[in-house]
Amino acid sequence: MRALLLFPFALGLGCAATRTKDNGSSKPLLTIPLVFGEGFWFGNFTAGDAIDLSLLIDTGSSDIYVNPDLYKPSSESHTVNQTVSMSFITTKPDGCGEMILKSHVVTDKLIVGPYTATNQSIGTVMDIPQPNNDTITKFPGQGIIGLLGESADDSSFGGTPFFQHLCDEGQVDECRFGLGLETSGTGSLSLGGVDRSLLSGDMATAPIYGQQWIIQGGLPLDILDVGVQQSMFLDSGTSNIIGNRTMVKALFDKLGIQSFTRDAIGCDGTLFGYYPCDSPPHIGFQIGNSSQTFFIEPEAFKMEDNGNNNCTATITGGNIGAGGWLVGQSWFQGKYIDFDVTGSQVGVTNLHI
Ligand SMILES: *[C@@H]1O[C@H](CO)[C@@H](O)[C@H](O)[C@H]1NC(C)=O
Ligand SMILES: *[C@@H]1O[C@H](CO)[C@@H](O)[C@H](O)[C@H]1NC(C)=O
Ligand SMILES: *[C@@H]1O[C@H](CO)[C@@H](O)[C@H](O)[C@H]1NC(C)=O
Ligand SMILES: *[C@@H]1O[C@H](CO)[C@@H](O)[C@H](O)[C@H]1NC(C)=O
Ligand SMILES: *[C@@H]1O[C@H](CO)[C@@H](O)[C@H](O)[C@H]1NC(C)=O
Ligand SMILES: *[C@@H]1O[C@H](CO)[C@@H](O)[C@H](O)[C@H]1NC(C)=O
Ligand SMILES: *[C@@H]1O[C@H](CO)[C@@H](O)[C@H](O)[C@H]1NC(C)=O
Ligand SMILES: *[C@@H]1O[C@H](CO)[C@@H](O)[C@H](O)[C@H]1NC(C)=O
Repeated sequence: MRALLLFPFALGLGCAATRTKDNGSSKPLLTIPLVFGEGFWFGNFTAGDAIDLSLLIDTGSSDIYVNPDLYKPSSESHTVNQTVSMSFITTKPDGCGEMILKSHVVTDKLIVGPYTATNQSIGTVMDIPQPNNDTITKFPGQGIIGLLGESADDSSFGGTPFFQHLCDEGQVDECRFGLGLETSGTGSLSLGGVDRSLLSGDMATAPIYGQQWIIQGGLPLDILDVGVQQSMFLDSGTSNIIGNRTMVKALFDKLGIQSFTRDAIGCDGTLFGYYPCDSPPHIGFQIGNSSQTFFIEPEAFKMEDNGNNNCTATITGGNIGAGGWLVGQSWFQGKYIDFDVTGSQVGVTNLHI
């Protein structure tokens, strides 16, 4: 998901933090299972004494929030005298929808496997009514864990984001994590390195520029003369793939995909494409200087089934600010994506099958 207040999309914000680590206490690579539900991926974390909270895995925002009434303070819990109001967009599986939330902030331990981030800032979401059906006030699942950001400046609470926190404390062996999302609805999150048992072949890599997790990349050169070498923002918490309307219209026309513009909350004037479900197009993205195309898996190209062999494409054309592509989980499926904080780069390869 994209947190509106946290998403400057400006270049040259944060430079890669080089921090020394205490290697003596680092733990081996941890890979935890994830499950897919209603457009998003979830994994289990313990916040304070609330065990096995199912949190949305989001590389597009920086903070941890737990939905109303689920947080249980541990003996280490401290209330921070702060109320936070936030908005998020791309909250629905079609890339539309918005969220407004109000939350209190606590600090407590956040635990996953052998890793414990102590004094982690956690937002405890307040139960407020939905202003309308398309505006949610709590997260899908039981909350969210943001995996974006290198310092407290990236957080709306002013606390260091969770994964960076583990890196700063030298708990992880390497300051990088990976997502291996399959097309079957199961997947994994690896913390503290690269889980090579999941990979097939070498990784294509691209440096992040300006800000995590933005890289250079786009459609292959032979597809269109627009859409090539754009910025790509890799956001596991967006369900679909959004490009600017001009670019996406040209792509749909080239692929023979019927398209219409529709208004919805959080995405006025969005261009949706419709294709025969039984013949999804073979289309993908290249990253950095690599000429390897990483295709959208046929199962993942389908955003909605409208019946009569009519499916809505996972790519939509919208207004996404500074341009480029907002690339969500539908592209991630079938791939291992390495988010390498220390190396300031992203690596992509196909999952081992
Ligand atoms: C751990 O760190 C210390 C000092 O920071 C260094 O001397 C030592 O070689 C490191 N050990 C390993 C296994 O990296
Ligand atoms: C999360 O924990 C619940 C309860 O222990 C369990 O049923 C579920 O399978 C777990 N989910 C994942 C993705 O590990
Ligand atoms: C929190 O804020 C309220 C009102 O601003 C104040 O009365 C209270 O003492 C504060 N609590 C702490 C722990 O800072
Ligand atoms: C909102 O959703 C409820 C339940 O699905 C439905 O009854 C109601 O008509 C919807 N309201 C609007 C304005 O769409
Ligand atoms: C805990 O975190 C808060 C805010 O993130 C910070 O102000 C405080 O100094 C930290 N406390 C300890 C003991 O590290
Ligand atoms: C959309 O992207 C194309 C290709 O990069 C660019 O030429 C065009 O200016 C963009 N349009 C808008 C409205 O951002
Ligand atoms: C990509 O190619 C350009 C031009 O040859 C070069 O300047 C740049 O360093 C390359 N980037 C990577 C990540 O290899
Ligand atoms: C596919 O479904 C959409 C949305 O219901 C509709 O607008 C479009 O006309 C349909 N296309 C075909 C070829 O049936």
